Amino acid sequence: MNAQGWDDRYRDAEFVWSVGPNETVQKYLHGLTPGSALDLGAGECRNAVWLASQGWNVTAVDFSRIGLDKGRKLAANKGVDVTFVVADVEIFDMGYRAWDLVLVSYLQIPNPQRLSVLERAAEAVAPDGLLMVIAHDRSNVADGWGGPPDEAVCYSVEETVSVLHGFDVQIAGVIERDVDTESGPRVALDTLVVAHRAKTGVS
Ligand SMILES: C[S@@+](CC[C@H](N)C(=O)[O-])C[C@H]1O[C@@H](n2cnc3c(N)ncnc32)[C@H](O)[C@@H]1O
Repeated sequence: MNAQGWDDRYRDAEFVWSVGPNETVQKYLHGLTPGSALDLGAGECRNAVWLASQGWNVTAVDFSRIGLDKGRKLAANKGVDVTFVVADVEIFDMGYRAWDLVLVSYLQIPNPQRLSVLERAAEAVAPDGLLMVIAHDRSNVADGWGGPPDEAVCYSVEETVSVLHGFDVQIAGVIERDVDTESGPRVALDTLVVAHRAKTGVS
């Protein structure tokens, strides 16, 4: 979906995603020493705003101006500062070894763009920094609930890990996410990768 499509989706609803952070993001990033954080495809900024509330200095990037406008309101509402950047992550300059945390949360883009973005996201992680990728797993299309019906914009653990060089991969697997729906509880399947870049030396 292009920026216009996401703008339309965000314009139509109060909050498409939750106002609080994704529960897995919260689970793995809670309690870490805060530093600089880059949230790629931040959307309505539920994660960016939560990270800011935890003391992180967050830059939220998304090509949907409407999504980020909602993030701006959410940040104001929570009394936190976030830097908002309207940009296409396919061309956005993430820098090199620049961020203590790079978060990619449910960024739905097909290959080869996805691999290129993930490679640059990994390169952008500073020594001793963390990369967290959480996204709809490819298996979710057949076996899980919700998410995009198109496997092309879904992730796999193997592919995500393949972009990591100089990282200690702490978590790499498919996780179950419980979802409450009108027809009862359902389970969604997500790719989760959490990786820590070595402090020095390895690149
Ligand atoms: C499913 S939403 C996830 C939003 C947020 N990360 C979260 O977890 O709540 C995907 C977001 O990625 C953004 N996005 C998709 N492709 C993008 C691109 N090429 N550049 C920037 N943002 C993009 C969309 O605008 C949308 O806000």
